[in-house]
Amino acid sequence: VPTGCPMGRPAEDSVPAAAPELFTWEFATDPYPAYAWLREHSPVHRTTLPSGVEAWLVTRYADARQALADTRLSKNPAHHTGSAHAKGRTGIPGERKAELMTHLLNIDPPDHTRLRRLVAKAFTPRRVAAFAPRVQELTDRLIDTFVAEGEADLIHDFAFPLPIYAICELLGVPAEDQDDFRDWAGMMIRHGGGPRGGVARSVKKMRSYLAELIHRKRENPGDDLISDLIRTSDHGEHLTENEAAAMAFILLFAGFETTVNLIGNGTYALLRNPGERERLQRSLAAGETGLLATGLEELLRYDGPVELATWRYATEPVTLGGQEIAPGDPVLVVLAAADRDPERFRDPDTLDLARIDNQHVGYGHGIHYCLGAPLARLEGRTALATLLRRLPDLRLAVEPDDLRWRGGLIMRGLRTLPVRFTPRP
Ligand code: HEM
Repeated sequence: VPTGCPMGRPAEDSVPAAAPELFTWEFATDPYPAYAWLREHSPVHRTTLPSGVEAWLVTRYADARQALADTRLSKNPAHHTGSAHAKGRTGIPGERKAELMTHLLNIDPPDHTRLRRLVAKAFTPRRVAAFAPRVQELTDRLIDTFVAEGEADLIHDFAFPLPIYAICELLGVPAEDQDDFRDWAGMMIRHGGGPRGGVARSVKKMRSYLAELIHRKRENPGDDLISDLIRTSDHGEHLTENEAAAMAFILLFAGFETTVNLIGNGTYALLRNPGERERLQRSLAAGETGLLATGLEELLRYDGPVELATWRYATEPVTLGGQEIAPGDPVLVVLAAADRDPERFRDPDTLDLARIDNQHVGYGHGIHYCLGAPLARLEGRTALATLLRRLPDLRLAVEPDDLRWRGGLIMRGLRTLPVRFTPRP
């Protein structure tokens, strides 16, 4: 016989009394009670990941910021003692491996500094700002495809295609090839980027397509990011063709599923918090943009797309939150847990779209801080504002308990988001 009534319990009571089980189905649905337990009882926590790899989870905000900026924690997988990389058993032939490794999230200074400086010259906030009208067009075009139906799956019909078309256009992938990217990206997202056959094939196709495209743009440059990546130089240095291909690939890879989840998780959080959603709708109807801007940051803090930052490896003994970490150990910074830390955020489990003093780590921190944040903000604001304007009575078509979350390690996002609304011509 169950004791106690689960209805109306204060949030603190949902923090488990004993060490929670991680990476279960319940955990994927709502990891926040488990993270509250970890922050409180084991803030730098050793765990075995579903892959069998042992790693440290860092859940407090202060420790997370320290770890994200700590130069003793390397991004280079070769530092992982137990790893296939360290033992040279990745199964990827040497040449291709070297090529795959030269992207920003896998390298440290000075290589990182050089590549990041070069890409930052091409991927400028100005380029992103100039892209705003096009993002609005893409957003409207997608909503046009389902607005007369009265129902949609906002992941499949909207959150998923928008970022892939946006990044393809920005990079300069011709319109007739963009649906191939949609297929490859669909394969990658459906299978969580795991090492399965279909995913590996999609990655391979995407890479050879990009290599070929870069070759063509070198001959025939246009006004697009790939042409700029090729043109750009720093103190006489250029990106090599391989580096440009790896860069285009990481831009696609880092900018795709993250933004899908920003739109998906963000819309879902608004639907679950009707007071906040009405507040935003009123503000947008009055022509204001301030609440949309603070609101998007709050949605990132409250239920952001990136649950864990990408891998880091200790290169020497490091003490973090009082815990000694041995060289070679992987460290995973749990951004979702840090951003709900009551030591840093007042009422962290409450969605407050007007929250100020909101320095969340949803985009990371330090030298690997998200390069695409201006684009993500542009897409996120455009998507949410346009949805709320064009589908003002948007509502969930299923019970929240019937929604399924993807069980990936790094990303947090919904598989589907079925909604209903009054159909419009
Ligand atoms: C890095 C989050 C969208 C490109 C990162 C990191 C985070 C993040 C947390 C740091 C990872 C770490 O330190 O381990 C997000 C979120 C997004 C988003 C929440 C959407 C809401 C984008 C977009 C692009 C992009 C749209 C590009 C088109 C990158 C790149 C890096 C990065 C290239 C690596 C930077 C470096 O290592 O120097 N992002 N991202 N991201 N992001 Fe994003």
